[in-house]
Amino acid sequence: MNKRKNFIAGNWKMNGTLDTISEISKIDKLSEGYEGDIALCLPNTIISKANENISHKKLLIGAQNCHHEESGAYTGDVSAKMLKDAGAKVIIVGHSERRQIYKETNEIISKKAESIINSDLLTIICIGETEEEKNMGLTSTTVCTQLKNSMPSISNETNTVVAYEPIWAIGTGRIPSLKEIEVVHKELRSLVSKIKGIDTANKMRFLYGGSVKPNNARDIFDLTDVDGALIGGASLKSDDFMGIINVC
Ligand code: 13P
Repeated sequence: MNKRKNFIAGNWKMNGTLDTISEISKIDKLSEGYEGDIALCLPNTIISKANENISHKKLLIGAQNCHHEESGAYTGDVSAKMLKDAGAKVIIVGHSERRQIYKETNEIISKKAESIINSDLLTIICIGETEEEKNMGLTSTTVCTQLKNSMPSISNETNTVVAYEPIWAIGTGRIPSLKEIEVVHKELRSLVSKIKGIDTANKMRFLYGGSVKPNNARDIFDLTDVDGALIGGASLKSDDFMGIINVC
């Protein structure tokens, strides 16, 4: 079995202004001794300033979305290349909020991920089922179809991380059972094994996301096929975020 480096990523969503940079600096300082990878995916408006205020030893600054083209007439959008220019090292794609609110399809998410990889950045591809799909026994079919169609052919273990985020667990305080998380992660790894081979599958990192807090993180991280977490609310405050990193 390959030893995979843990990965803890925070997703600040539409939160954070210049006056919150001090919280990022705190996370930067406190995380220096951590052996895994840590990222904070911030609003585009503070990426550059956040980068100026960190030591660059451990904390990776990232973004939460991008356009799939490099440049052009796409009013209001930014490309992976532009985010890299601002200092982003990692970009999330396919978050359920983008899939649901902005109707992003697997095909568009795959194109975005491809543009991120082609910009030499890391992409975190998110997938996850609705509560209705879960209740109908469709979790596995849903997430495997999403992953198969949102992961570009150039994805590999060094340029792509997968985040499983059940939509009904995001911001609700509810999480699947540990068994359910483990089963989904195993299925996703086995899917990647079928598409990309066992070596890539064993090295690729799969994160769990949805109501991860300092008090439930340890049990989740103990699961064999879970390599870290994508954290929303609890990444906004350095105490909560570090509480999760400390148990990882
Ligand atoms: P919460 O941790 O707030 O549930 O959010 C999870 C999430 O959506 C991270 O991308």
